Amino acid sequence: MKKVKVNLGKRSYRIIIGVGVLSQLKTELKKLKLGKLAIVVTNPTINRLYGPLLQKTLKGSPVELHIEEVPDSEESKSAQQCIDLIERFADLDRGRGLFVIAFGGGVIGDLAGFCASVYRRGIPYVQVPTTLLAQVDSSIGGKVAIDLPCGKNLIGSFYQPRMVLSELRFLESLEATQIKQALAEIIKYAVICDSQLFQYLEDHLDQILKLKQEGLQHIIETCSQIKVKIVEQDEADKKGKRIILNFGHTAGHALEAAAGYTQDYPHGNAVALGMLVVCDIAKQLNMLSAKIAQRIEALIARAGLPAEISGLKLKDILTALAHDKKFSNGKNRFVLPVRIGRVVVKENIPEQIVTKAIKSRMKSEVSSLGDYE
Ligand SMILES: NC(=O)c1ccc[n+]([C@@H]2O[C@H](COP(=O)([O-])OP(=O)(O)OC[C@H]3O[C@@H](n4cnc5c(N)ncnc54)[C@H](O)[C@@H]3O)[C@@H](O)[C@H]2O)c1
Ligand SMILES: [Zn+2]
Repeated sequence: MKKVKVNLGKRSYRIIIGVGVLSQLKTELKKLKLGKLAIVVTNPTINRLYGPLLQKTLKGSPVELHIEEVPDSEESKSAQQCIDLIERFADLDRGRGLFVIAFGGGVIGDLAGFCASVYRRGIPYVQVPTTLLAQVDSSIGGKVAIDLPCGKNLIGSFYQPRMVLSELRFLESLEATQIKQALAEIIKYAVICDSQLFQYLEDHLDQILKLKQEGLQHIIETCSQIKVKIVEQDEADKKGKRIILNFGHTAGHALEAAAGYTQDYPHGNAVALGMLVVCDIAKQLNMLSAKIAQRIEALIARAGLPAEISGLKLKDILTALAHDKKFSNGKNRFVLPVRIGRVVVKENIPEQIVTKAIKSRMKSEVSSLGDYE
C-alpha cells in the first residue's frame, strides 16, 4: 500500500493506492468526518460488479449509504443528468451532512465531483476510481466537469476531493481496450517527465497488459506522484505548469473532433496519435532525434495503440485544429518532446510543418482526399 499526499494547503488530501485498500474506507471516512449520509454516485456496471462489496465494507459504519446510478456512458456528463442528480441530493439531504462518493471511472468522477462542487456551493466528495485511467489521471487534481453538445468538459470547476482511494482489485474486471486507453496517458506521463517510468514501461509492458499487480501498483503510484507534483505547482491551471499534461492532446483533440467524438477515435487512441504527430513536428524542428522518436513510437505500438490516422479527412482535422487555436489567442501551441522525460511548449509553429506531421500519419488513400496542402 502507498499513500501519496497532495499538498494544497487547506485543500490537501491523500491518495491511497494498493490491493485491498477498500477495507480502509470505513476508517478513513470516520477520520475525515465528512457527514452522516454518503451518496454513492455510480453506474449499473460498477454497481453490479462492486456495489455489494462497497456496502459490505461500510457495514457498521455510522455513515448511511445511498446509491445513485446514472447511465453507463459519457452522455451522463450532461447538464440534464447533473440537475437530476443534484435534485436527488436535495431530496435526500434533510441537513444530515451529505457528502458524495464518486464510485467509477472518469465519467462518474467528473460528473459526481462537479455536482458536489455546485450543490449548496460545495459539499465534500471522495473519489473511489475504478478504471486505470481514473486511478492514474482523472481522480487526481480536482478538475471536474460536464459536457455541452458543442464540446467536452465546457462546464467545470476546480474542486479537490477529500480523499482518493485507488483499489487495484477493481482493475481485474477491466477490458483490455480500457487498459490500452489508459496506457496512452501513462506513456504521456513518462515522456513528459519521467525517463525511468518510460524504461519501466519498456521492460514491464507485457506484465502490465496482463494486469500483474506489481506492475500496476508501480505505474499507478508513479503516475499519481507525477500528476500530484504538477497539480501542486499549478492547482488552477493558471501558471502554465499543467499545460505539459496536454502532451499529445492538441492534435488528439482535433482527431476526436474530426471524428465527431465517436468510438472510432476513443480518447486514448487519439492521444497516442497526437503524441506521434508532435514527435514528428519536433523532429522537423530538429528538436528531437529520430532514435528517440522511434523509441516512443515502438512503446505506443507495443501498447496496442494505433500509429496511423484512418477514416478521417485532413481538412476536417485542420479545421478542428484551427477551431482549437481560437481558445489560445489565435496561436497554435504544442507540447513538444525533446528527449524522454522532457518536453517544451512551443507556439506559432508554421502551419506547413503541422500539416506535414499529420499527413505523415495518414493512410495515403485518405490523406489524398484532403484538398489542403
Ligand atoms: N478530470 C480529469 O482530470 C480527467 C482526466 C482525464 C479524463 N477525464 C474524463 O474521464 C472520462 C473517461 O474516463 P474512463 O476512461 O475511466 O471512462 P468511463 O468512466 O466511461 O469508464 C469506462 C468503462 O469502464 C466501465 N468500468 C468502470 N470501472 C470498471 C471496472 N472496475 N471493471 C469493469 N468495467 C468498469 C465503465 O462502466 C465504462 O463502461 C472522460 O469523460 C474524460 O473527459 C477527466
Ligand atoms: Zn487525456
